[in-house]
Amino acid sequence: MKKCELLYEGKAKKVYATDDENYCIVDYKDDATAFNGQKKGTICGKGVVNNKMSNYLFKMLEEKGIKTHFVEELSDRETVVKKVEIVPLEVIVRNKAAGSLATRLGMEEGTPMKSTVLEFCYKNDDLGDPMVNEYHILAAGFATKEEIDQISAMSLKINEILKEFFLSVNIELIDFKLEFGRCADGIILADEISPDTCRFWDVNTHQKLDKDRFRRDLGGVEEAYAEVMKRIGL
Ligand code: C5P
Repeated sequence: MKKCELLYEGKAKKVYATDDENYCIVDYKDDATAFNGQKKGTICGKGVVNNKMSNYLFKMLEEKGIKTHFVEELSDRETVVKKVEIVPLEVIVRNKAAGSLATRLGMEEGTPMKSTVLEFCYKNDDLGDPMVNEYHILAAGFATKEEIDQISAMSLKINEILKEFFLSVNIELIDFKLEFGRCADGIILADEISPDTCRFWDVNTHQKLDKDRFRRDLGGVEEAYAEVMKRIGL
């Protein structure tokens, strides 16, 4: 498959057209941003980690019945994915209080939630990805009721699969963000699942093994990403 023109350049990825209109090539960068682009930096080797980890997890999810955009890993940083129309929502799944939820509800980070929390944010950098509910989504036409129901069910199933998997390598999945796309097959999982988009805590020490090390200037960012890769066996 031939890599053609650049379609989109985001904060962490470039997306290229290919000579087949049904597919794109994603190219993962080492650039890191936080707080809606206000903090910028580089995490050496992050592109490789995020590409390989996402592909590994997407393959695992496919085997368990979740349809994803993953097609084929081309190189350390490049992957062929199905071309989709991205649903303009960021879906956040939370198992324990952390980050913006801990702040918003005045909870200590690490407080267990009595049940899984699902949040939707409108994907819009200029607005700072504001949180929206089902009424906003329907009223603004971001997605249909059927799509919201499908996205919610898929997100909760993905949480169960990932929680169990990460626990098997001594990592607690605190929360994570998902994005979905529309294609001929309906709604499929898109974007990435990586230490950029998840909170991973060591089960025993609660050490942070994710992008919070960059966001909060904790140091050892590259080492944390490498540790998750090592535990997964990648
Ligand atoms: O910042 P907040 O606590 O709302 O983040 C919840 C989860 O969603 C975290 O795992 C974070 O990495 C992820 N997230 C993301 N991209 C965003 C916002 C949050 O990957 N734009």
